Amino acid sequence: MIAYVRQHLGIKLFLSYLIVILVGVFVLASTTQFTLPGAFNRHMGYMDGGMGPGMMMGSPGFGQGRDQAQDLYTTFRASFNEALTWAVLAAVALALVVSMIFSHGVIAPVRAMMSASQRIAEGHYNERVHVGGADELGQLAVRFNTMAGQLEQIETMRRQLIGDVAHELRTPLTAIKGSMEGLMDGVLPATSETFGQIHQEADRLSRLVDDLQELSRVEAETFKLDLRPVAVADLVNTALRRLSRQYEEKGVTLASSLPAGLPLVQADEDRVGQVLLNLIGNALQYTPEGGNVQISAARNGDEVNIGVTDTGVGIPTEHIPQLFDRFYRVDRSRSRRAGGGSGIGLTIARHLVEAHGGRIWAESTGEGKGSKFTFTLKAVK
Ligand SMILES: Nc1ncnc2c1ncn2[C@@H]1O[C@H](COP(=O)(O)OP(=O)(O)OP(=O)(O)O)[C@@H](O)[C@H]1O
Ligand SMILES: [Mg+2]
Repeated sequence: MIAYVRQHLGIKLFLSYLIVILVGVFVLASTTQFTLPGAFNRHMGYMDGGMGPGMMMGSPGFGQGRDQAQDLYTTFRASFNEALTWAVLAAVALALVVSMIFSHGVIAPVRAMMSASQRIAEGHYNERVHVGGADELGQLAVRFNTMAGQLEQIETMRRQLIGDVAHELRTPLTAIKGSMEGLMDGVLPATSETFGQIHQEADRLSRLVDDLQELSRVEAETFKLDLRPVAVADLVNTALRRLSRQYEEKGVTLASSLPAGLPLVQADEDRVGQVLLNLIGNALQYTPEGGNVQISAARNGDEVNIGVTDTGVGIPTEHIPQLFDRFYRVDRSRSRRAGGGSGIGLTIARHLVEAHGGRIWAESTGEGKGSKFTFTLKAVK
C-alpha cells in the first residue's frame, strides 16, 4: 500500500489535498463546538434585552426560564450540528472532486512526457508532447520537445553518415574488385600499370579511412588544442615548405605575401598547419597547370584573417554554402577523375578553426574564376 502510494504522484497529490480538507473540517468542527455556547449565550442575552431578563443560561434562580433556555440551546445545538454535518459532507465531497480534477491536471502532462520519453527510448524520435500553458510543466514540455528534436536530428545525421560512408567505401572497393576480376579472367594484362591502378584505389581507401577517423575525432571534440602564441609567418612557411614540391611538379606557382607587423596568433601549430595544408592542397588540386596560388594575411580587429587565393576552377555560387558539409563535393565525377578526395577535408578544417574560436568561409566569383578561402585566428593581446 505504502509502496503503491510512493510510486504514484497522483495519489500523493490527492492524499495531500485530503489531509488539507480533513484539517479544515477538524478546525471547523472544533471551533464551532468550542465557541457555540458562548455565542448562544451572547445572542440570547441580546434577545433578552427585548424580552425581559432571566432567560440567560447559567444565571441562577430563574427555574422555568432557565429550563427553557437549556432546551432551546440543546435544540439549537442539535440543529446546528446537523446543518454543520451536511455542510461538511457537501464541502468534503466537492473538495474531493475538485482535488481529483486538479491532481489530474498535474498528472496528465507528466504522464504524457513519461510515455513520450519511453517511445523515444524505443527509437521513435519523432515523438512530441502537447502540453499547453506557460507554467513550469508547460516549459518542461517545451524543453522536452526541443531535446527530442535534437535527438532526432542527431539520429538523422548518424544514419546519413553511415549511408555516406558506405557509399564512399563502395566506390574504391568496386574498382579494386573489378580490376582483380579482370586480372583473374585474363581480361586485364598483369602489367605494372594495372597494379598501379589497384594500388591507387587501395591508397584512396586508406586515405578515406584516415580522414574518417580524423573527422570523428574532430566532430567529437575529443582532441586537445595546444594553444600558444605563434607567428603567422611560421605557420604559413611550414605549410609552403611541405607542399612546394607538389606545386612544382604540377607547374602551379605558390607564393605568400604577409604584411610586416602582424600580431602573434593564439593557435595550436599542428592543427592550424593541418587547416593550411587542406586549403593549399585543395587550391593545388583545383587549379590547372600555369595557375597560381597566393597566401595572404591581414589584421582585422582582434583577429588575423589568413587567406588562400587561387586562379583555379572556381566554385559556382550555389555550392558555396554546402562546401564545409561532410562528403560535399562540387562535382563528384571531376574530383574523382582528378584523383580528388571525398569531401571531408574542408569539414575537418572548419571544426579545427571553430575549435580555435575562429571562422572559415569561401568566396568565388564563379566557375573558372578562381576561389578564395579565408579563416580567422585570435590575435594575442
Ligand atoms: N580551391 C578550390 N577551388 C575549387 N573548388 C574547391 C576548392 N577547394 C574545395 N573545393 C570544392 O569543395 C569540395 C570540398 O572540398 P574538401 O577539401 O572538403 O574535399 P575534397 O578536396 O574533395 O576531398 P578531401 O576530403 O580529400 O579533402 C571539393 O570537392 C571541391 O569541389
Ligand atoms: Mg580537400
